[in-house]
Amino acid sequence: MNSSTTTSGLTFDIQPSAQRKTPQERAALLESPGFGNVFTDHMVTIRYSEDKGWYDARLEPYGPIPLDPATAALHYAQEIFEGLKAYRHPDGSIACFRPEANAARLNRSARRMAMPELPEELFTGAIETLLEHDGDWVPTKADNSLYLRPFMFATDVGLGVNHPSRNYLFILIASPSGSYFSGGVKPVTVWLSEDYTRAAPGGTGEAKFAGNYAASFLAQAQAVEKGCDQVVWLDAVEHRWVEEMGGMNLCFVFGSGENARILTPGLTGTLLPGITRDSLLKLAPELGIPAEEGRISTEQWREAAASGELTEVFACGTAAVITPVAHVKGSQGEFQIGDGTPGPVTMLLRDELVGLQYGHRSDSHGWVRRLG
Ligand code: PLP
Ligand code: COI
Repeated sequence: MNSSTTTSGLTFDIQPSAQRKTPQERAALLESPGFGNVFTDHMVTIRYSEDKGWYDARLEPYGPIPLDPATAALHYAQEIFEGLKAYRHPDGSIACFRPEANAARLNRSARRMAMPELPEELFTGAIETLLEHDGDWVPTKADNSLYLRPFMFATDVGLGVNHPSRNYLFILIASPSGSYFSGGVKPVTVWLSEDYTRAAPGGTGEAKFAGNYAASFLAQAQAVEKGCDQVVWLDAVEHRWVEEMGGMNLCFVFGSGENARILTPGLTGTLLPGITRDSLLKLAPELGIPAEEGRISTEQWREAAASGELTEVFACGTAAVITPVAHVKGSQGEFQIGDGTPGPVTMLLRDELVGLQYGHRSDSHGWVRRLG
């Protein structure tokens, strides 16, 4: 059966899957989905060509996409993506958190990679269309959600590199997910990467560009070899200034109680402007915790942890939510933050953020968008 819905002038051609999972199969998959392993019944695809602009929007069964071996993205990596979640609210409705911020960041990434921008209404229209058909995949279990992965890549066929691709494919897939790190809010150990660089001034660090992640796997493997969970990236010039982690930003808590304050590395152009980071910079002061952007070096991190001035460190991002950092390892040895357990500021901010996302707190910022 073919039907259609109209959003933003483009018609989404609806091609429902003939092989949808049964409610029992879905329930079994939602039992313990992990992160990014399970996918829903459908995906949304939208094509772009220089002549037609965005066209051929459709919802279709989730599945393989045939590609010519000379497809540009496979050779020159013109690929960007986003990550956001759909949350089940207590009244059964479905909401996303600041999806327009993801739409805007996708377009900033697109500009950096010489790709076409996708109108915000198409970005949210794609999410709405997918949730209309796959809404049952949004978990009801605490702390679980439906991770949405919109991405876009170059589909010109040919090996020339004199100009960016003239054709693109945007796809939205969705994956019911639990915690990114197994064990819930378990503190992680991080590795200060001095051997490798994620991003340099003028490079692609602030774009959510696939190549940034490809370049990080070797450092991540080194971190795991050193007994760590994640890499901390440092600046490319001095290998001294803390930037971010592989898939999340970092926040430092100085002082405690009424004197607690937060510092997060400033957006120098080499780190990803996280939407969670931005939300916390706004939420923390409302909870009486001053928050600022600035610089922190690895020496300052070590010294402040030793003196007790630095009380907590946490990572923040869509997938990671808020994850405490307990131990830090690097070429200069190892140190611990506080007593190594999740700190009160980390947990207060986590509760506030998660409360908003899951509809347990009232949303005074207009961040929560009902989409199902
Ligand atoms: N930094 C990197 C490299 C990321 O991949 C992510 C995840 O998207 C973040 C930071 C956090 O961004 P956000 O809070 O928008 O998920
Ligand atoms: C996200 O949090 O959305 C990320 O992109 C992190 C990672 C899975 C790449």
